[in-house]
Amino acid sequence: MPRKKLMAANWKMYKTPDQARDFFREFLPLVAGHSRDEIAVCPPFVDLPAAIGSAKDSKISIGAQDMYWEKEGAFTGEISAGMLLAVGCTHVIIGHSERRQYFGETDDTVNLKLKAALEAGLIPIVCVGEVLEEREAGLTEDVLRRQCLRAFHAISGKKAAKLVVAYEPVWAIGTGKTATPQLATEAHSLIRSEAAKAFGETLADNLRILYGGSVKPDNVKSLMSEKEIDGALIGGASLDPKSFAAIVKY
Ligand code: PGA
Repeated sequence: MPRKKLMAANWKMYKTPDQARDFFREFLPLVAGHSRDEIAVCPPFVDLPAAIGSAKDSKISIGAQDMYWEKEGAFTGEISAGMLLAVGCTHVIIGHSERRQYFGETDDTVNLKLKAALEAGLIPIVCVGEVLEEREAGLTEDVLRRQCLRAFHAISGKKAAKLVVAYEPVWAIGTGKTATPQLATEAHSLIRSEAAKAFGETLADNLRILYGGSVKPDNVKSLMSEKEIDGALIGGASLDPKSFAAIVKY
C-alpha cells in the first residue's frame, strides 16, 4: 500500500493567536476538498487553542513544536505530552535542528521525548539531519545512523507505529538551498534501513519519512515525485497561506 504523504507546517517562532486565525481563514478555503495528503500545522504553543479552534471543522491536524518527557512537575517553562493532548494536539515535532543547535537538545533527550510522545499517543515527527561540515567531511551516513539509532533506542516496533521521521539537512533549512531529490532519496533510504533494524521491516515499509529544508511551491513537485519521500516539513514557506496551499496541492 502506498504511504499517504504528510505535509506539515513548522511555524517556528512566528505568529500571534490572531495571526494564526487569520492564516486559517485564508488557508482553509484554498485546500477545501483536498484529501490526497494529510496536512498538519505546528504553531507556537500559545497559538495552539486558536489553531485548533480554526481547524476544527477541517481535516487539518495541529501539532506542537516541542514537548518535555515528564508528565508534570517542577519543570518551569516546559509542556508535557498530556497537556498537548488535552488542548487537542495530535502531532509533535521532536529534535528539530534548531532545538539541537540553540537549546541543548541531544540524541538522548530526543529519545526520552520520543518515548513519552508515543506512550501518550501523539504522532511524533522526529527530525534528523547533518550540518554542512559533516556533509563536506563525508560523515552524513554516520550522523544519520547515530541520530536514528539513539532516537529509536529501547522503543519497540509495536510502540513506534505512529512514528514519522523528517530528514532535514541543516544546511538546507532556511537557506534557500534544497537537497536534490536524489540526495534526499539516499538519506531517506538509510533512515528507512535504520528503522527496519530497530522496529522491523513492516514498520519500516510503512514509516513516513518527510523531507525538510527550503521546500517551496516551485521545488515541491520534484521532491514529492520520489518514491522514498513521504511528505514535507515546511518552515518559511508555510507562513503564507497561499504559499503553503500551493505546496500542499503541488
Ligand atoms: P525551511 O524550514 O522550510 O524554512 O527551510 C524547515 C524546517 O526547519 O522545518
